[in-house]
Amino acid sequence: MTQAVDLSVKMGNLTLRNPFIVGAGPTMKNLEQIRKAEDNGWGGASIKLAIDPAPYINLPPRYRWLRRQKIHIFTAETRLTADQSLKLLEQARKVAKEMVIFPTITYDGEEHEGWAVLAKRFEDAGAQAIELNMCCPNMSFNLTTTGEPSTKATGATLGSDLKQLPGVVKLIVDAVNIPIIVKLTPEGGKIAQAAYASIQAGAAAVGSTANRLGIPDIDIYEPMKSIYRLQDQITLGCLSGPWIRPLALRDTYEMRYYLGKEPFVIGSGGVTDLQSAVRQIMVGADAIWICTETIIRGFDWMPSLLEELEKYMQEMGYRKIGDFRDLLLKNIASAAELRIHEGYAVVEKERCNACGLCWNIGHCSAITHPGDTTTVIDPDECTGCSTCIDLCVRGAITMVKK
Ligand SMILES: Cc1cc2nc3c(=O)[nH]c(=O)nc-3n(C[C@H](O)[C@H](O)[C@H](O)COP(=O)(O)O)c2cc1C
Ligand code: SF4
Ligand code: SF4
Repeated sequence: MTQAVDLSVKMGNLTLRNPFIVGAGPTMKNLEQIRKAEDNGWGGASIKLAIDPAPYINLPPRYRWLRRQKIHIFTAETRLTADQSLKLLEQARKVAKEMVIFPTITYDGEEHEGWAVLAKRFEDAGAQAIELNMCCPNMSFNLTTTGEPSTKATGATLGSDLKQLPGVVKLIVDAVNIPIIVKLTPEGGKIAQAAYASIQAGAAAVGSTANRLGIPDIDIYEPMKSIYRLQDQITLGCLSGPWIRPLALRDTYEMRYYLGKEPFVIGSGGVTDLQSAVRQIMVGADAIWICTETIIRGFDWMPSLLEELEKYMQEMGYRKIGDFRDLLLKNIASAAELRIHEGYAVVEKERCNACGLCWNIGHCSAITHPGDTTTVIDPDECTGCSTCIDLCVRGAITMVKK
């Protein structure tokens, strides 16, 4: 008999039926999207960012999906007003019987008290929890980096300001009786400290990774040409999607490492399938925001991911998500602690077709190719670095331990 597994996760008194939350973004802006997410079994849904007083940058969306590099980039985006988001929240609460709805908010007024007033309005409208957007680099860092000094205490600017952040979080936590989730930015390099400060200030949960700012490849023969359609300039864009996974894993790992076992941590960045989801949990995530994949594929792939996750857990003997959360944590060693074995690479002559792919490795003095017909590795010169193995498409090189 196969063992039953429990996919649910608990954040304080709130239970999510599974760890997968639609991340705030363009796929959580209307009731139809919320209905689809509910029907396809998502655990939660974070409503698109609402900015109060009014969104200070609000343009029609301009996105690129750079398929080969697996990069999603956006430069312009439409946000919601508080009133739009409140209305959607009220409707969503009626539609979502199983799924938890998280409104996400940012306050952009003069006094920080405005954050608390805004949060209270969402609590009164039926929010089960509120996400604070302390992560969006587009509305904050992208003003400073591109020349304009930013006076905005919003998004990634506030999320990376360790002096202001705890005070704002505490103000909001004290103003409402529902859990507060702080969605943080890795921009600025202090995500673990910001997570710690947020939890100390009373947040119920913290999370990462929103998008990273960057400039994707441009055509050097037409450098002034925008890669964006219907947009003139290049601009720094918000990057997300699979390319971001290694950085996103690091963010979750650092938060979990710094915070210890208890606090609820939500990871995100490039999660698209079983492997990428389980890895996030293994480095410390209790739940996962997924955005880009819903932009590309909608919502109806969730049932098969849930099925795969159940099967995986049964196979591995895990009964609940907590059984494998943090599993990788103890195996992540510091650079100084690495145990390195001595060894060298060897070529399997029968497999090598002398294609030459491994003959010009810049740092390698072990490989020779007599008569250009065969490949020879001198074990005494080989440092065991591995580059040749990764270059050989025929699998002709293996490593042996001394
Ligand atoms: C077009 C777009 C808009 C987004 N808007 C928001 C937003 O309004 N609020 C927010 O907290 N995160 C926003 N995000 C960030 C996502 O929720 C998510 O955290 C991030 O994209 C990383 O996950 P992913 O690789 O699965 O997309 C947005 C992402 C994209 C691509
Ligand atoms: S493992 Fe590194 S040093 Fe050794 S043969 Fe391959 S590329 Fe050269
Ligand atoms: S890359 Fe592989 S197949 Fe090509 S020369 Fe090197 S060992 Fe031979």
